[in-house]
Amino acid sequence: MSEETKKSIMDYDTVALDEENNALVIIDQTQLPYHTEILSLTKQKDIWNAIYLLQVRGAPAIGVAAAIGIYLAAREIQADGFDEFYTKFQKAKDYLDSARPTAVNLSWALKRMEQVVLKNKDKTVSEIVELLHKEAIEIREEDIWVCRMIGEYGLSLVKPGDGLLTHCNAGQLATVKYGTATAPMYLGHEKGYGFRIFSDETRPLLQGARLTSFELKESGLDVTVICDNMSATVMRNGWVDAVFVGCDRVAANGDTANKIGTSMVALAAKRYGVPMYICAPTSTIDMSTPTGKEIHIEERPAEEVVEMWYKKRMAPEGVKVFNPAFDVTDNDLIAGIVTEYGIAKAPYTESLKEIFRKKEEA
Ligand code: MRU
Repeated sequence: MSEETKKSIMDYDTVALDEENNALVIIDQTQLPYHTEILSLTKQKDIWNAIYLLQVRGAPAIGVAAAIGIYLAAREIQADGFDEFYTKFQKAKDYLDSARPTAVNLSWALKRMEQVVLKNKDKTVSEIVELLHKEAIEIREEDIWVCRMIGEYGLSLVKPGDGLLTHCNAGQLATVKYGTATAPMYLGHEKGYGFRIFSDETRPLLQGARLTSFELKESGLDVTVICDNMSATVMRNGWVDAVFVGCDRVAANGDTANKIGTSMVALAAKRYGVPMYICAPTSTIDMSTPTGKEIHIEERPAEEVVEMWYKKRMAPEGVKVFNPAFDVTDNDLIAGIVTEYGIAKAPYTESLKEIFRKKEEA
């Protein structure tokens, strides 16, 4: 789409490669919903910062940004032979990987790019860089298919007119297209399902209020923003038929890390008999992490809690703050994990393996 015909923020790419200028292009999500600022990043430090500062955020989008970022780093590497190239590549990879710890898509994408390097030791450096370019584009393109499939499987779990609740932003802004938790909502909307959607505002960084409600509203869906402490009320009122959330890492036993507050939603959903579905691309399922206990939960700066988004202090100076960015939802609170290869149900230790078997056969 040309610059002139872009009418809404939804016409812009969340994350893309600008081939002409060799830059990672993102929408600065810290400026939404008030300003549409497109960033064109070429320096590794700026790409690292964009991930750390949540200018680009959401597990799949971070993975795509890292894939493009490491390709751009590889282009700049000056090396006489493979060994020197690989040493410098690894350094750049570790640097990007250190930007955020919980969303496994970051290291997943970087490892996938590293495999391209390792499988092509016999090629010249410029040939390897060309293959990295191809892989980064593929990772980005695949994300669209993956989210569409999650949308189709997710849609099979609900019916027209349903009330749906989501937490944080697992929307188009967190992926390349459709989102994960929002994919069933967008596909249902295409079919005229008339969902009523509740979007938790999602303290402390308000991804639900600033991003989810914004993108759903821009796309013409019926969305109501609620404070995080209201989700139990709307469920108790009988207004919610299903909860769809995204995730940052699913452990092998189905324990799931997602934005802080997700586990509270899950507990309320269990109490009120509302099924809670985790929408998870297989790139977010980490079979090498046995349970939620082993998931590294990122802790972020205290200012995010006490100054709120609009930088006005709300709590006393110097007060102690605990600010984990994610929490773990125990697998027994989860009704299903919706992936691009089908819906995994308990016991997850078995069903997640089955999902990966299907992926290998595909
Ligand atoms: O800190 P954020 O905004 O990156 O957290 C994002 C989430 O928790 C999302 O729900 C998750 O990454 C899934 S995005 C499809």
